[in-house]
Amino acid sequence: MAAKQPLIISDKNQMRKWSSTMKSQGKTIGLVPTMGFLHEGHISLVREVHRHADVVAVSIYVNPGQFSPSEDLSTYPSDFDGDVRKLMAVPGGVDVVFHPHNLYNYGGTDTNKKSASVINNVAVLSCIEQKGIGHETWVRVENLEKGLCGKSRPIFFRGVATVVTKLFNIVEPDVAVFGKKDYQQWRIIQRMVRDLDFSIEVIGSAIIRDSDGLAMSSRNVRLSPEEREKALSINKSLLGAKSAAANGQMDCNKLRNLVIQAITEAGGRIDYAEIVDQQSLEAVESIEAPVVFCVAAWFGKVRLIDNMEIDL
Ligand code: PAF
Repeated sequence: MAAKQPLIISDKNQMRKWSSTMKSQGKTIGLVPTMGFLHEGHISLVREVHRHADVVAVSIYVNPGQFSPSEDLSTYPSDFDGDVRKLMAVPGGVDVVFHPHNLYNYGGTDTNKKSASVINNVAVLSCIEQKGIGHETWVRVENLEKGLCGKSRPIFFRGVATVVTKLFNIVEPDVAVFGKKDYQQWRIIQRMVRDLDFSIEVIGSAIIRDSDGLAMSSRNVRLSPEEREKALSINKSLLGAKSAAANGQMDCNKLRNLVIQAITEAGGRIDYAEIVDQQSLEAVESIEAPVVFCVAAWFGKVRLIDNMEIDL
C-alpha cells in the first residue's frame, strides 16, 4: 500500500478549518508537537497518538521563545523533507503536518530576515507575518518550571508553555502526546492543561533508548564516539540507583551520590541529579512515594538529560 501523503499546512486558519472539519465528522484529533529533526523517539510519540485518536497531526515548529541568547536558535538543525518522509513511513502515517512559519515573535520586529536577535533575554527569530506587531503574553507554570532544567534554563518553560498553548488553541486536539524524556516539560503541560481547563488528554510516552541504553535525543549526533561512550554512564547509573532502591536503599542522598560519582568518574559534568516527587517535582529526602530520578549532565559541549521513574 502506498504511504499516506500528509497535508502540509502552514497557515493557522487553514489548520483550524481542517480541525473543525474533522470534528464535524465526529473524528478525534491527536497532536504530537515537535521542533522537527525527527528521530525514533518522536516516531514513538506518533505511534502512541495513533492508539488514542482517529486522525493525527504533527506540528513542526522551532520555537524561538524557548531559546535563550546563549543557545543558538539560528543553527538549530532542521530537515523538513526528511521529517515528512519519516512520518510517512510510520504505520498509518499522519494526516497533517502543521508547519507554521511564525507562531511567536516576542517583541516583534519589522524585518523578514531569518536571523536571531535578542530582546529581553529571549532569542527572536525575525521572520514575521504581521509586520511590527510582536507578542508579549507568556504562559507560566510558576512552581513546576523553577527546579531541574528551569534552574539553568530560566526562560525555557514559559516559552514551551506559551507555544504549546497556541498549538492547542489552533489545532484543538483531543489528545496530545509528549515524551517522558522531557519529564519536567510533560508535567508542566499536564498542569497547564488542568489549570487552564483545556479539554485535552495529555499523555506521557516512555523514553526510547538506543540499544546501548542512551536516551534518544537530537543532540546525540553532536557527541563524539568517546563522549557517547562516557554518556552511557547516565543510564547505567540510573539503573544502578533504581536497583539499589528496589533492594531497600531509600536514602536519596546516598542514591544521588551513586549517580553523581558514576557520571563524574566517566568524565561527565553534572548540571543536576535530583530525586523528585513525580507530581510536584520537589526534591525528596527518602523514597516514600513514586519518584523520578532526573539527571542533566554535560559531555564535552553537549548537555544531555535523562530520567528514571521509581515506583516502589
Ligand atoms: O519538546 C519539544 O520539542 C518542544 O519543547 C515542544 C514541546 C515542541 C515545544 O516547542
